[in-house]
Amino acid sequence: EEIEKGGFDHFMLKEIHEQPKAITDTYRGRLLRQEAIIKMAGIEDNMKKFLNADRIIIVACGTSWHAGLVAEYIFEDLARVPVEVEYASEFRYRNPIITEKDVLIAISQSGETADTLAAIKLAKSKGAFVFGVCNVVGSSIARETHAGAYTHAGPEIGVASTKAFTTQITVLTLIALRLARAKGTISSSDFRHHLLELEMIPKKVEESLKSDAHIQKIAEIYKDVSNFLYLGRGYNFPVALEGALKLKEISYIHAEGYPAAEMKHGPIALIDENMPIVVIATKKGHYEKVVSNIQEIKSRKGKIIGIVTEGDVQVKELADHVIEVPETLESLSPLLTTIPLQLLSYHIAVMLGKNVDQPRNLAKSVTVE
Ligand code: G6P
Repeated sequence: EEIEKGGFDHFMLKEIHEQPKAITDTYRGRLLRQEAIIKMAGIEDNMKKFLNADRIIIVACGTSWHAGLVAEYIFEDLARVPVEVEYASEFRYRNPIITEKDVLIAISQSGETADTLAAIKLAKSKGAFVFGVCNVVGSSIARETHAGAYTHAGPEIGVASTKAFTTQITVLTLIALRLARAKGTISSSDFRHHLLELEMIPKKVEESLKSDAHIQKIAEIYKDVSNFLYLGRGYNFPVALEGALKLKEISYIHAEGYPAAEMKHGPIALIDENMPIVVIATKKGHYEKVVSNIQEIKSRKGKIIGIVTEGDVQVKELADHVIEVPETLESLSPLLTTIPLQLLSYHIAVMLGKNVDQPRNLAKSVTVE
């Protein structure tokens, strides 16, 4: 096992560091920047289904559901197709309206999650076209779906999902861009720009990983609190949810993710000098609005950990700590803002002496209801 960890203390840390390679493996052979095309067999073969779809329904659980939420922003923004994101466990029992004009995308790292599998069977029985985004090759979900695209992240051993999440977002971004091109909802120059920026993400993830020592110091300061709040807007709202989930899963500290503006409708009541609040405040995407949310937190004495774009000045002045990530397109920013949140939860859990790779009560794959 020590050899498998490749010199890292835990599988989770190894998998966090594998992300530059995993993301590259995910787009290799699919993102052809020179030719300015995206090639994915599962999409090409079924393009008609996607183009004729009234809407896309995404079903998943846990971290994969968060990747689905990010995808909702990307698909609607770039490909202008309505998207609904559903917890598989709710969807399957709700007597949902599904027609032959629906495309259902199921996202699952393991490809074995019982609720997601059941949701797929239900959608198929109603005539929907079902597309899988799985990591494990030949898994039940990969076999049950009509077509799909693998994430190619390599084996993920740590129970808390890391590289599966970022590679799911990568695949879903490729699909959204491919559909946007086919539908003509993105200009050719914008499309090229996205390809270029996506190709640069692995290098930028590597850059983001360099904040490790700085994040460790922040972890040391806050490791003994009992509550954390995570805020983000737009594309980074799902990242806030995922950041909170990571902390809960492995450190057992209660954490809540919230859309930053929605804070006023509840969580703001919890803010005092003992509450650390992680705020994703990258330059593109509602920056000024997030800054004003940060001011509201500050006036209530909350401790602010800002995830900011390199070179930021405004948030730096207000926040107790900032963690920088390189600049990228707003639509790709979740691939970078996620990284410091993974490291923060990892270091807190290690400092608290928790079993990072196998947290209590959790399973890597939930194959029973
Ligand atoms: C479990 C795992 C999570 C995972 C979720 C969905 O809860 O602990 O890490 O996100 O299942 O799993 P899937 O394999 O379907 O992505």
